[in-house]
Amino acid sequence: MKIVHVVGARPNFMKVQPVLSSLESVPDVEQILVHTGQHYDRNMSRVFFEQIELKEPDVNLEVGSSSHSVQTAEIMIRLEQFLLERSPQLVLVYGDVNSTVAAALVCAKIGIPIGHIEAGLRSFDRSMPEEINRLLTDQISDLLFTPSVDGNENLHAEGIAAERIHFVGNVMIDTLIRLLPRAESLCPKLAANYGLESGAFGMVTLHRPSNVDEQESLEKIINALCELSRSLPLLFPLHPRTAKKLKSLTMPVSPERLSFIDPLGYLEFLCLQKNAALVITDSGGIQEETSFLNVPCLTMRENTERPVTVKDGSSYLIGRDMEKLNSTFNLILAGNAKQATVPPLWDGHAGQRIASVIAEKFLFRSGGSGQAVTLFEQKITLQTNRTAKRSSS
Ligand code: UD1
Repeated sequence: MKIVHVVGARPNFMKVQPVLSSLESVPDVEQILVHTGQHYDRNMSRVFFEQIELKEPDVNLEVGSSSHSVQTAEIMIRLEQFLLERSPQLVLVYGDVNSTVAAALVCAKIGIPIGHIEAGLRSFDRSMPEEINRLLTDQISDLLFTPSVDGNENLHAEGIAAERIHFVGNVMIDTLIRLLPRAESLCPKLAANYGLESGAFGMVTLHRPSNVDEQESLEKIINALCELSRSLPLLFPLHPRTAKKLKSLTMPVSPERLSFIDPLGYLEFLCLQKNAALVITDSGGIQEETSFLNVPCLTMRENTERPVTVKDGSSYLIGRDMEKLNSTFNLILAGNAKQATVPPLWDGHAGQRIASVIAEKFLFRSGGSGQAVTLFEQKITLQTNRTAKRSSS
């Protein structure tokens, strides 16, 4: 059986590795890794492959940056050709980035079964590009692998058949659990490099268009961070989008103890967030990681597609309310942060569960009457026949 994994942006890389390595133990599975090239800077892509020990991509489509439509369309054009040549029986897509929806659309059009890892998450905010990517990808995927129970509820509410939905847990946490000991071994040197003392600094990451694209909102946030850094040194690794926007900021930035640095590798960021007093972020993945690590997380968004991180985890939804940012920050520094509990199945074995579902669906299907009963079954049969035809011709 041939499986293609499609990844493209930084948060995809830590999600694909546990699935790829779990599928290695399933007999007769050939795996192909496609990098769309959505993220291309060394410190947004290459470093992650090295640190996560992810195999080299078999192909890089090198789409690079452009508008959402152009980027999505370019991925579709280049990927369609590749998939028609390779004819896999299953394509796996990850998360909610443009590469995810682009790959899912291509497969839906040419009849290749699709599995979506991290399905069912909803912010219910359609002004977010990622929400559109999530909605569309889930509607056209055949296998929906959810990280938390709310994912199942959202998919049921959208009328998606129960047999397509598989609650498997969080693959991002698989990678975190595997690499935490290695990340911790870097800590003493790293803290010394930045002149930081464990537990006595905060981390900041911001890259959402809603926070950084508008000059006014970026200025407001930077001013607030400058103020907060008087009480706690803040380390701010800059996403390229944010770095660009900061350059065009006209206000004089007087950072006090707010330090802007280049994007960090996976291990470096994990070590620093584990040892931070708090994290200020608009990233989805970091809300999950801080919840697992029980590090207070101030989420600079009006809503989240990961409500479990607020309900059970360590995240506080701050939105753009700078007063709330200030009061929650002080509450945490006073030692009154809420205690996080780890959501069910965030246990390091999500990748294995995904591999088991795939093995059961594709490799150990009972013969029955031999009649394809669902659209998914029909797609598997059709695609298997096409692949067989290609390899015999
Ligand atoms: C993308 C995802 C977002 C995810 C984020 C993680 C979508 C719609 N958004 O946002 O969900 O949280 O990745 O990082 O897919 N750039 C570089 N070098 C790079 C990559 C990007 O300089 O390696 C710059 C380019 O100027 C580009 C901008 O960053 O225009 C934004 O990149 P893009 O891939 O469009 O979206 P992200 O903001 O990274």
